[in-house]
Amino acid sequence: KKTLNQMLIIFGASGDLTARKLIPAIYNLYKGQHLPENFVVLGVSRSNMGSEEFRSKVVLESEFLQKKIAKEEKDFVQKFADKLYYEDLGTDYDASYEKLAKRINQLDEEHGTDGNLIFYLSTPPSLYETIAKNLHDAGLTKEEKGWRRLIVEKPFGYNLKSAKALNDGLHYYFNEGQVYRIDHYLGKETVQNLLVTRFSNSIFEPLWNRRYIHHVEITNAETVGVEKRGGYYDKSGALRDMFQSHLLQIVSLIVMEPPISSDAEEIRDEKVKALKSLRIMKDEETIIKNTLRGQYVGSTIGGKKVKGYREEEGVNPESTTETFAALKFYVDNWRWKDVPFYVRTGKAMPTKVTEVVIHFKTPHHEVFKSQDVYKKDNKLIIRIQPDEGVLLKFGVKVPGLGFHVEQANMDFYYSDLDSAQVMDAYERLLLDAMQGDTTLYARADEVEAAWRFVDPILECWENNPSVNTYGYAAGTWGPKNSDELIEDSFGWRNPGD
Ligand code: BG6
Repeated sequence: KKTLNQMLIIFGASGDLTARKLIPAIYNLYKGQHLPENFVVLGVSRSNMGSEEFRSKVVLESEFLQKKIAKEEKDFVQKFADKLYYEDLGTDYDASYEKLAKRINQLDEEHGTDGNLIFYLSTPPSLYETIAKNLHDAGLTKEEKGWRRLIVEKPFGYNLKSAKALNDGLHYYFNEGQVYRIDHYLGKETVQNLLVTRFSNSIFEPLWNRRYIHHVEITNAETVGVEKRGGYYDKSGALRDMFQSHLLQIVSLIVMEPPISSDAEEIRDEKVKALKSLRIMKDEETIIKNTLRGQYVGSTIGGKKVKGYREEEGVNPESTTETFAALKFYVDNWRWKDVPFYVRTGKAMPTKVTEVVIHFKTPHHEVFKSQDVYKKDNKLIIRIQPDEGVLLKFGVKVPGLGFHVEQANMDFYYSDLDSAQVMDAYERLLLDAMQGDTTLYARADEVEAAWRFVDPILECWENNPSVNTYGYAAGTWGPKNSDELIEDSFGWRNPGD
């Protein structure tokens, strides 16, 4: 695909994401010669600084970039830094957007970026609509010369109502085809591989349904707590922060029907259908029975004291915000009727891992007796991160007398490939947006369908702050009670245990 000359305008350029993720991703694209010949980044934010200062902050003296750079690259890095500019936006919006428009036009002429503009909003979401409106009022959204695209970061809304309002607000100034809602999990190689595993093999898809699948399990665990993001996280919680976005995106890729082609709209149409088929838990009784939340409490890990959530900076000492969530739910459609999905996510857990486990049904007639149900089912494990890969567990005969069954592994690791350069999620997603490919971006109706499923749970949890809420020691697999959510003595698969 061709990447046309263009300018990337980052709002919130003095923030953490720009230095930590965006600029290193753009640098790698530059190094890999993926950027167009004429390309400029214009950082925009409230902070008062000049282009030189911006360059040193996010490139020349950036701890995030410098650790990726070898000594011999220094000249190259300087050349990259020269592509970066900065403009501060004052509080007097009208005047400063006029100033911004002038700067953009001037840079466009100087650098030959052909009037193509991508606006990347890495600001608090409360500013998205205001920025879109101001860009419009300053004449920056008109596609007279070149195209316009808008990338927005999560969280996209706080619930269904606010997500809808945000979609409506943005659609006033940009059409849906111009809006790129980032979900960085879709940029992960292994998340995309879910589609390829399913739809490019003839051995999995025929089994990918209620007849052969017993249940589906997804675990997303992080070792870190909320770090410095307590202020944001305390108003969000695990269900909003991870489940509504990243994990439901993964669910949609597992659940969806085969698209008729790899075209962005075809794939996204099927994902929306998948999300719409999640059985909404309407009454509190169902929600309380099928969901559970937890909050990490202080503990000692390897002789080191670890803070509890309520002691973290920016967190209300009486907070009831969940740092762990586990859900059991069903998908009401032809393929998945009665197959339970178990999904859990948590911070301050024993290891960082995201994996999908497809548990196949045990053979319907038992020829070889075995006590251990869990060891007998065929499992397809899709390792999203780390150790990206796919693992198939199947039964083999234990050598010796009798017919005893053991599980053996067939595995594939991305690191074993010769071309194992796994692109960073932001790198891939930014390049897609630069090329106008929306496949790996969430469409408005996808985001709304995900909120529609999550909304009643959030509401029920808010109305019943102490029901189904448990503490768990930091560094453990969440509240003990989450084991009871998985029936049939299968239990959660705790990778690494
Ligand atoms: C972000 C969440 O979207 O994803 C964070 O806001 C979380 O709370 C992060 O830590 C996890 O991303 P990854 O790529 O490290 O799994």
